Amino acid sequence: MNSPTQIQLIQPDDWHLHIRDGEVMKDVLADTARQFARAIIMPNLKPPVTTVELAKAYQSRIKSNLKLLGISSFIPLMTLYLTDNTSADEVRKAKAEGIIGFKLYPAGATTNSDAGVSDIKRCHQALEAMQAVGMPLLVHGEVTSADIDIFDREVVFIDTVLESLRKDFPELKIVFEHITTKQAAQYVRDASTGGKNTIAATITPQHLLMNRNAIFAGGIRPHNYCLPVLKREEHRVALLEAATSGSARFFLGTDSAPHAKGAKEAACGCAGCYSAFNALGLYAEAFESVAKLDRLEGFASFFGPDFYSLPRNGKTITLVKQAQSIPAQLPLGDATIVPLRAGETIAWSLI
Ligand code: NCD
Ligand code: ZN
Repeated sequence: MNSPTQIQLIQPDDWHLHIRDGEVMKDVLADTARQFARAIIMPNLKPPVTTVELAKAYQSRIKSNLKLLGISSFIPLMTLYLTDNTSADEVRKAKAEGIIGFKLYPAGATTNSDAGVSDIKRCHQALEAMQAVGMPLLVHGEVTSADIDIFDREVVFIDTVLESLRKDFPELKIVFEHITTKQAAQYVRDASTGGKNTIAATITPQHLLMNRNAIFAGGIRPHNYCLPVLKREEHRVALLEAATSGSARFFLGTDSAPHAKGAKEAACGCAGCYSAFNALGLYAEAFESVAKLDRLEGFASFFGPDFYSLPRNGKTITLVKQAQSIPAQLPLGDATIVPLRAGETIAWSLI
């Protein structure tokens, strides 16, 4: 069979996105809203979005920016940042106010995670309330202790945190965010849930398209550095297999994480890849590489809303196999940002 040159999909959503705050938000929102109907907005602002009140204020700033952009159809889905002090009351309030999930950042794991959870045991009451009201927990699945090799942090998290978390809270809905290893893919694929929808994982375009060599190709490549860090080729292959398997436990979450060019190209460059500019083109390229474009719609448009018990979108979008040049940089407030694949081409474009 010839591979298609055009595909139509129910409009996708992005189930893991960073849009920051202030001046820069407008620029990154425009890229996402061009492609996606909804996105889960991550709460790792400075200071973090830890209460319903803060989330509502953030949501209204997002809405003002959408208005400025003349976009009326995009829906930001809000999350709260779990801390050692999150109360069961705040969880119940969040549920009542339409917050879509709580994000667990182990303290120190990634960008703006200093206020994160120091020990998951401290969150027992909040987790109990989340389980009781059906509030998903979105996890950054890496341990943080300095003696664990950075390439092993996700696998150690599975063994030392995730497994017991799932035992203690068997009904808690958990999304293992931006998985990067074959062990994580296998864990999610094989987890027994008693037929319930209690575990899923998001996968980013960079982890489907690149292995860790991309961080060091001919010199250090800060724009390919994100957390969890890219892994070996065998892991990329396993993630691609999971994403294209048709399993409803794997769905799209770009983890597009904008940092200004100067903050990436620095002595201590920030973690995060900016994939929002043409994320769908990147995913299409990944799926096409294993001749599984027919599985893209499930991954991008169906399994996310199904997991979160939200309706699937009604509108459709069309991707064409038409190479798109990616600019060397894009505006980001007063600064610039270097998108993933800057200065290169992506095989697929959105009409
Ligand atoms: C994210 C960011 O910059 O906010 N960075 C990243 O490398 N993915 C945080 C995160 O999701 O870990
Ligand atoms: Zn993220």
